[in-house]
Amino acid sequence: MPLIEWNDALSVGYRPIDADHMRLAELVNELHDDLLAGSSMTLIAACFQRIARHTASHFRHEEHLMEGSGFPDSHNHALAHQQLEAQIADLLRQVDAGEPVFTLELVEFLKNWLLNHILTMDKKLGEHLAIQPPGSPR
Ligand SMILES: [Fe+2]
Ligand SMILES: [Fe+2]
Repeated sequence: MPLIEWNDALSVGYRPIDADHMRLAELVNELHDDLLAGSSMTLIAACFQRIARHTASHFRHEEHLMEGSGFPDSHNHALAHQQLEAQIADLLRQVDAGEPVFTLELVEFLKNWLLNHILTMDKKLGEHLAIQPPGSPR
């Protein structure tokens, strides 16, 4: 059973964002599987780097949508993104230093962060985009 099981309750009601989230969930599931399978550190690190890259591009995507649609809470939302990115950057530094950062706790942390963020901040953004899509007259 995958660590994160996608279901409709996780949809924010805006397809391009949902597509990013599904891919992120898939990548976190892959990291979980790799850890459980005892895969090589090279493979696990590569998987984590994909998560880092996808997280960054997804955050820019949402921030672009917030900007283009006049989302009122964009500052706090972008701040939450920045905080996770700082944690990921820190982890990447530890990986480079050869520290053992890949644990089930880390995967649980990523899962919880992602689900909690989707269900709170991203849902609010999705609701906003449903009535005020980017580029629509305000
Ligand atoms: Fe977000
Ligand atoms: Fe998101």
